[in-house]
Amino acid sequence: MTEQSGQAFWPTRSLTSVFAGRRRRLMERLAGPILLASGIRRVRNFRLNLYPLRSESHFLYLVGRHFDGSFLLREDDRWALYTAPPDPADTLWTGPTPGLDELVSELGIEVLPLSELSPPADCACLPPQDTEAADWLSQLLDRDIDAGMGAEVVDADAELADAMIELRLKHDDGAMAQLRQAATVTVAAHRAGMSATRGARREAHVTAAMESVITASGMTTAYHSIVSVRGDILHNESHEGQLHDGELILADVGAESLEGFAGDVTRVWPVNGRFSTTQRELYDVVLRSQLEAIEQIRPGQRYLEVHRTAARTMLQGLVELGICRGDPAELYERGVAGVFFPHGVGHLLGLDVHDMEDLGDRAGYAPGRERLTAPGDAQLRLDRDLEAGMAVTVEPGFYQVAAILEDETSMAPFADAIDRAQLAKFSDVRGIRIEDDVLVTDQQPEVLTAALGKTADEIEDLMAPASRGSAG
Ligand code: GLY
Ligand code: MN
Ligand code: MN
Repeated sequence: MTEQSGQAFWPTRSLTSVFAGRRRRLMERLAGPILLASGIRRVRNFRLNLYPLRSESHFLYLVGRHFDGSFLLREDDRWALYTAPPDPADTLWTGPTPGLDELVSELGIEVLPLSELSPPADCACLPPQDTEAADWLSQLLDRDIDAGMGAEVVDADAELADAMIELRLKHDDGAMAQLRQAATVTVAAHRAGMSATRGARREAHVTAAMESVITASGMTTAYHSIVSVRGDILHNESHEGQLHDGELILADVGAESLEGFAGDVTRVWPVNGRFSTTQRELYDVVLRSQLEAIEQIRPGQRYLEVHRTAARTMLQGLVELGICRGDPAELYERGVAGVFFPHGVGHLLGLDVHDMEDLGDRAGYAPGRERLTAPGDAQLRLDRDLEAGMAVTVEPGFYQVAAILEDETSMAPFADAIDRAQLAKFSDVRGIRIEDDVLVTDQQPEVLTAALGKTADEIEDLMAPASRGSAG
């Protein structure tokens, strides 16, 4: 098997010292007790038929392994994992699973039976994503704890949230190694998708080619794969569509590493292997926007400015194509970018694809900053000053979204700014997004997914039959 298929690559785990170091740094920031839930694996229809296990990211960050129905407790200088010992009755079905003693040596942490968990009532905690875990925490701590994204946190919980954000915003060596592994497999998956497209009849066939690389590398997908000829549906989850000559396919697919770190990459390629003139022209506009935005990724840069650079550069390109009329900076101020580029230029990347959005905008927005209201800007999920060690995505896109373009009321102010007849000539483009994962460094930004070509020529080469099996 070749490196390109991803099957020669097998990811590795961090040493236990990585997690011990994270727990120590968290302890240095907070004095009080902490209780973090692993989350609870959902049952499909009977006890041994379960949905996939994916632990809460804050728990995972400090433990390094997925657990079901378990808790991490910190009291004074001591950390302990509380989990259920293996049930011998399950061995028939699950094979042997590690006992608590084995977990101690595997994880480098004290491990105790769940039945012994009796946390102090003043524990700080964070809202888990599932209501069952939230209810369990509520019982354990005798107070109401809500579940889900953006649940309010106050007092000691807010201090814990801020301490976790401070740690997780800037990736340590262990996290960077995981991000690089996720990027490697993500790149291989995209190459496989491009190679598999000619000859494929449905989106599902391309999806299968991409996800098979991820599975064969021992990883999972970091989010629901978007593989669609309907690039105008930003997060289209369906893979049913048929592939037709002349269409573009948009693939937003990312691998998740063993310790839960995400890759998040989007490429767009022509079903028939060749961009039409109009597709290539718009592709080059989005690519220029992305490259200019990546240039802006440096310590001290406000991420909103990265977004604005992408939007203004895209408008410049649209003016050059005759789709927009006017000065790009003024068009941006008027909100024209949001017509074609209705989402933010990117987000934090880490243990989650939109890292720490379980805490709402607390992680993505620096204290005192709030979302803007203009369409496009309002969807921006990150507005911090960048610091070395942060990982972000850079993913501008151009879309022809019927719900936006056919909304006469919101389009009326732009009648002079958009040439609809010219736009109609580009009807073979529904959506183009180009997305890479970028690490902020003290020098040039490091594009973790740079090994995947993205110029129109590189994409066509990657799709050519001769490129199969090459390192491309
Ligand atoms: N894959 C989801 C996103 O790019 O935001
Ligand atoms: Mn993304
Ligand atoms: Mn994406």
